[in-house]
Amino acid sequence: MADTPTKTATLSIDDQTFDLPIYSPTAGPDVLDIRKLYAQAGVFTYDPGFTSTASCDSTITFIDGDKGELLHRGYPIDQLAEKSHYLEVCYLLLYGELPSATELETFENTITRHTMLHEQMQYFFRGFRRDAHPMATMVGVVGAMSAFYHDSTDISDNKQREIASHRLIAKMPTIAAWAYKYSIGQPFVYPRNDLSYAANFLHMCFSVPAEPYHVDPILSRAMDRIFTLHADHEQNASTSTVRLASSSGANPFACIAAGIACLWGPAHGGANQACLEMLKEIGTVDKIPEYIARAKDKNDPFRLMGFGHRVYKNFDPRATVMKKSADEVLDLLGIENNPILQVAKELEKQALEDPYFSEKKLFPNVDFYSGIILEAMGFPTSMFTPIFALSRTVGWVSQWKEQLADPQHKIGRPRQLYLGSTARDYTDIENR
Ligand code: SDX
Repeated sequence: MADTPTKTATLSIDDQTFDLPIYSPTAGPDVLDIRKLYAQAGVFTYDPGFTSTASCDSTITFIDGDKGELLHRGYPIDQLAEKSHYLEVCYLLLYGELPSATELETFENTITRHTMLHEQMQYFFRGFRRDAHPMATMVGVVGAMSAFYHDSTDISDNKQREIASHRLIAKMPTIAAWAYKYSIGQPFVYPRNDLSYAANFLHMCFSVPAEPYHVDPILSRAMDRIFTLHADHEQNASTSTVRLASSSGANPFACIAAGIACLWGPAHGGANQACLEMLKEIGTVDKIPEYIARAKDKNDPFRLMGFGHRVYKNFDPRATVMKKSADEVLDLLGIENNPILQVAKELEKQALEDPYFSEKKLFPNVDFYSGIILEAMGFPTSMFTPIFALSRTVGWVSQWKEQLADPQHKIGRPRQLYLGSTARDYTDIENR
């Protein structure tokens, strides 16, 4: 928790002045401490959407939106995507440092041996309609984990917090894969301990009992990189949801289920599905100007999915890596001149040349290219956001653990600017 001010701000309201401490971070903007403002000045701050509000202090992830920089525990995302792998990044996010070879082996063994679900949980999947969106299934099944894993719901017990963290990271691929299998009427495929995390997920999604399935190393490397690029992103909407849910003392499975529900929205994690659907609706390069005009039209609710970001006012560094990976994966899969990829590249080019987007600093974000890779790998669009949720579980869990480790954390309870009726007496119906 920040506790040593580096300078002081003075606020004057009418004839009173108030001194507000300012804290300086290791990176990013200073913060103005308003924790005592209401008690001292009797006023609230007003910041719908939290565009200027730091909700916590954290040491996990840093984003410089102007530079287009993303650091996980200080390590740049492009280096981690190139040189590391998802479970090593999970260790880094959870424990703060890159693991030694022994620490990594122990961690990977632990995760590998928690990938199976309680056998009875299968019946949860069968309660859904086959055409349920896999995100609906994930929200339900992850929330139900609190009914199956009672030995890791006591958040006051550090060991239970650890077990719950490992269970969530380990079981999310199984839950996502089974949600997919259920939606296409195929049998559930159990995890295999001889496969890597990403290869295991592909195996559970695409293998069938009728024949052997070989996991393509190109696809498992691309899958692992997509997991890494989505692992954490400081205090985004779904992470803030997890933190707020956790602040009431809710169990970890309920908190992560809340994060999945929030991520589903098309303005957030649902954008990868919405973006590919948009690119398909555009269809050909000659239709791009029409859609760019719609995106700029104040009277048209249409927005370019996969474009823009609350924090990045430069290229999202994940989009840069994803774009390179899209070229590599489609090339390695022998998918020449993918028309959707051509539309995406031309759309990006034309948008970035348009003053509307450059003046508003709207650039491609992590969701702009990811759907193209996932579709090339064989996933339906309905599985794009579940894969985002699977990847982000480690970020949610790391931020959840960090909040619980702060002895001064308290229940989140924002206030409001009230514009409703002042007190008035009840009117009987005969007098209305
Ligand atoms: C993710 O927060 C995170 O870190 C999220 C995430 C993560 O890893 O957790 O990075 C993942 O959610 C990425 C974002 C995915 N969403 C989309 O791609 C959906 C399309 N993008 C927009 O809906 C929008 O850009 C947001 C929601 C991402 C950001 O919205 P903001 O910050 O609230 O900005 P805004 O809506 O106030 O827009 C500012 C201006 C507006 O115009 P004016 O009212 O000032 O005239 O830019 C315009 C907007 O109309 N604008 C767009 C646009 N995005 C913003 N115009 C056209 N197309 C767009 N995509």
